[in-house]
Amino acid sequence: MSKQIKRIGVLTSGGDAPGMNAAVRAVYRTCVNRNIECLGIFRGWNGLINGDVRRLTQSDVSHIISRGGTVLYSARSPEFKTEAGQQKAVNTCKLFGIDGIVAIGGDGTFRGALALSKHGISVVGIPGTIDNDIASTAYTIGFDTAANTAVECIDKLRDTMQSHERCSVVEIMGRDAGHLAVYVGLATGATAVLVPELPIDFERDVIEKIRAARLNGFTHYMIVVAEGAAKAMEVAEKIKEGTGLDPRVTVLGHIQRGGSPTARDRVTATRMGYYAVEALAAGKTNRIICIRDGKNIDVDIEEALSMHKGINQLDLDTLKTMTGIND
Ligand code: F6P
Repeated sequence: MSKQIKRIGVLTSGGDAPGMNAAVRAVYRTCVNRNIECLGIFRGWNGLINGDVRRLTQSDVSHIISRGGTVLYSARSPEFKTEAGQQKAVNTCKLFGIDGIVAIGGDGTFRGALALSKHGISVVGIPGTIDNDIASTAYTIGFDTAANTAVECIDKLRDTMQSHERCSVVEIMGRDAGHLAVYVGLATGATAVLVPELPIDFERDVIEKIRAARLNGFTHYMIVVAEGAAKAMEVAEKIKEGTGLDPRVTVLGHIQRGGSPTARDRVTATRMGYYAVEALAAGKTNRIICIRDGKNIDVDIEEALSMHKGINQLDLDTLKTMTGIND
């Protein structure tokens, strides 16, 4: 029989994502419902190393469901990658009587969770990253809000590009993955979308596309570039050389990580927060809460980290058709 969980710690780590607060709130409320004490671990894994931990109260989570960022703060922790750092974290768990941890974040957060669970601490992960690059789950908290933010920005850019008959090159976050850029490209009707997962012939798929669009009477062009595919500045230079246009570059950057989460992110975060505490209470450890076929499931962290997430074929085929790539 698994030991009864009395005290759970919750942390957010890595790049923040809209909806993390909603997940923290859900963890807290599920703990209260189960008579489990909920501790906030501040500043990600660093907080566990440094004992930056305190008991959460109702007022800590009041009205945070609609707030972007994370009230627990976030950080990347090189020290947690070391055995010494992990040992300090284990000591903090012992000191505060933490029976289980809910770690909200992305790939790096889960590598930390895996290391800690190997030291005998129960850990369950919740995927929170705008990149949507965790292979074991169809969705990660924050993606929808980030996509909508980018779409809103690009719609605004399009207005001014149209007035001045210009070409716009917009760089979208996503680290090594193009999930966000593909989604945003589809939603904004981009002229071309450059992502790492879809090798293109620049001359044929960008330069020729712009020339053809021009001949068809188009006067402005929107090129969406995933940060993992190329630097927007360099793409703009190549377009200038190839077409004579003088593109304007916008790197959306961290603006994509902020803002009030959409309903989808709030609800996903709330479901996952609930599920994570239930999983720990049921004696599970070393799991990531995932969504597959619309259902919440939990997956072994090691297995999840060994998986690779490509962009789904339907989106790739749709994108190729919408942007006129005939390879
Ligand atoms: O993983 C989330 C993310 O926003 C990526 O899209 C981006 O590459 C990275 O984090 C930026 O990290 P930082 O906040 O350290 O600049």
